Order: sequence, then structure tokens, then C-alpha cells
Amino acid sequence: MNVDKVRKAFTQYFEGATGAVYTSPGRINLIGEHTDYNGGFVFPGAIDKGMVAEIRLNGTDKIRAVALDLSETAEFGLQEEDSPRQQWARYIFGVCREIIKRGGKIGGFDTAFSGDVPLGAGMSSSAALESTYAFALNDLFELGIDKFELAKIGQATEHNYCGVKCGIMDQFASIFGKEGSLILLDCRSLEYKYYPFDPVGYKLVLLDTAVKHELASSAYNARRQSCEKVAAAIRRNHPEVEFLRDATPDMLDEVKTEISGDDYMRAQYVIEEVQRVMDVCTALEKGDYETVGDRMYGTHNGMSKLYEVSCKELDFLNDIARKNDVTGSRVMGGGFGGCTINLVKEEKYEAFIKDAFTSYREAFGHEPKLYEVVISNGARKLN
Ligand code: GLA
Repeated sequence: MNVDKVRKAFTQYFEGATGAVYTSPGRINLIGEHTDYNGGFVFPGAIDKGMVAEIRLNGTDKIRAVALDLSETAEFGLQEEDSPRQQWARYIFGVCREIIKRGGKIGGFDTAFSGDVPLGAGMSSSAALESTYAFALNDLFELGIDKFELAKIGQATEHNYCGVKCGIMDQFASIFGKEGSLILLDCRSLEYKYYPFDPVGYKLVLLDTAVKHELASSAYNARRQSCEKVAAAIRRNHPEVEFLRDATPDMLDEVKTEISGDDYMRAQYVIEEVQRVMDVCTALEKGDYETVGDRMYGTHNGMSKLYEVSCKELDFLNDIARKNDVTGSRVMGGGFGGCTINLVKEEKYEAFIKDAFTSYREAFGHEPKLYEVVISNGARKLN
């Protein structure tokens, strides 16, 4: 992490001053994709890559912020009309606004931040940024906001200031992450359980296509709308269905003629995915990684063919994984680019990576990026 870089830059930008340093991680997700906003289950974990921010209260009503990785600065106030121009600054501004909307009393501050979560890789660099500031401001202004509300502040920032109607998974994982454990989260009740994850004899590795397709956020919002439409159609006959998470394949078939073919496919994917997460929980309790892997492939197939959020680069890496007898592989996160997550036996690892690099370069002119996953702690203060 870039702690030294942040400290050094902060002193340079802010006339020799120092502040408090906070960090929040990005996340992986073993399984349960696009289930969070459907009230379903997810299985994320925080990673050893994140955002680091130094912050000093400045006694004014202004924020002076430096995005070190972009060499950009921004200055803005705390009122709704003060929304900054730069996207990165809107994350910080949004967090401040969402705190204020909840009655939190905050003032101006100086801050510099830097991150090592690859952007657009499906590892939630934006949630890492939101969680860093939500956690830090709660601490610095002694607001007493609980951890769930901090995650919701990050999520609301995406909704209201960044145009993405995301679920709670990323911000939850970034705040609640625990070293060595994945977290099973019920996104309706917000009940959660830590699962120590140490698949002996296997490696968990991300392959980043290093592509990010346009319109990812509008397509994401469209998927969410499809799900809500189908849930509403099913609810007319089954009032107990609050979210697609509550629906069965039979219920979906009952409304088949009332909804579009695309909406049907989206809902089918979600209903199947909710079940896959349950299957993975049972399998993990028995140490049955073959079933875990099988369901990961199931998710990829569903995300590619039914939910249609994959792309040729991700499908290509998934095919290579199958060819190399990788236990499980799938697109991770929202889709439309980013990473595949792969559960691979140690003895198959080298051949798989070699093939993935060579074949991908031949097909797309550059290599994918590789990240070995280290499951780490969530938001915290560093000094
Ligand atoms: C993005 C969103 C999450 C979740 C995933 C897909 O990461 O921010 O809320 O919906 O996509 O599982």
C-alpha cells in the first residue's frame, strides 16, 4: 500500500502539516453476483489492495483534496450545490453529503489519497474510496455511526452522486472485511457470517482482462430495472415476493408471457445464482472445492448467456480455464470487463497461467494482469 507516498505528498501539498491516515480495501467475491440488489446472498472478502488517505481537519467549511494517482486537486464546499466537477472528487463529496443528510456534523478538511486497487477491474476501487472517507470522517468527527450505516453511506454515494444503482456488497466487504475470511452476507436482513477460507492445495487468482467496456454503469442500472420489473410481476400473484431472491423458477414461468424475453433471462439467472451461493456454502463446510468450482462455472455461464454482462475477453479466459482443468472460474463483479476469479489446484497453476498469458496475448495483443488473492482486513486507521 501507498502509505509512505501519501504521507510524503500530504506534507508537501499542505504546508508541512500531517494528519491521520486511514485505509479501506477493495474486494473479491467468491460467488453471488448481481444478487445483492435482489435481496440475495453474496460471498465477498476484502483484499490486500486498497485506498489510503491522510486527512487533517482544517477548521473551515471547505475540502481541499488531492488525488495523487491522477496528480489532480479539487476544492469544494459541503453544500449540495458545491458538487465538484471531477468524478473522483464526487465520491468524497457524496460521502460528506450522505453523512450530513443523516444528521452528522462535519466540517472542512485537507486530504490526499492514493490507491492500488486496479481501476475498472471489478475489484471495487470506488467502494474502497467511499469506505475510507466514511470510516475516517466518522472517526475524526466522532459521529458514532455504526458500520452498516457506513457501508450504506458509500452505497448511497454511488446512487446519488455517481449514477450507479449498486447493491451493498462492495461497501459492506470494504468495511467488514476480516483477514483470512470470506463473508456470507444476506443482503436483505444484513445478517452475515465469516467463513475462514484457506483452500489447502488450491490457489485463488484473478486474471484481469485489462478492458473496461463503455456504458457499464447504464447497463448495470438496466439489469437492476429488469429484476425489479420481474419481481413486481411475480408479486401480483405472490405478495410474499419482495425481491427476486424470494422467487422460484415456477413463479417465473407463471409470468413468462407478461415480461420480455430479456427480462425473463435476467430473472432466471438471478434465481439460479441465489441457489448457487447456497450450494457453495454447503460445499465449503465440507471442504468440497469441486462443487464450489462447478458453481463458479455455472455463474460464468449465467452471466454470459442469460445476464449478458460478460464480454469476449472474459469468455476467452473462462474457456482457457476449462481447458486447463481449473477447478472454478468466472467473471467477477459487475461484468463488462475486469477480472475472472479462478480457483485452481496448485499442480495445475503454472500451466494454466502460462497458457492464459500466451493465448490471450495472441488473441488480444496484450497479456492479462495477474493478482494472487490475499484476504485481508476492512476499513481501519493506520496511525
Ligand atoms: C458491482 C456492484 C455490486 C454488485 C456487483 C455484482 O460491484 O457495486 O453492488 O451488484 O456489481 O455482483
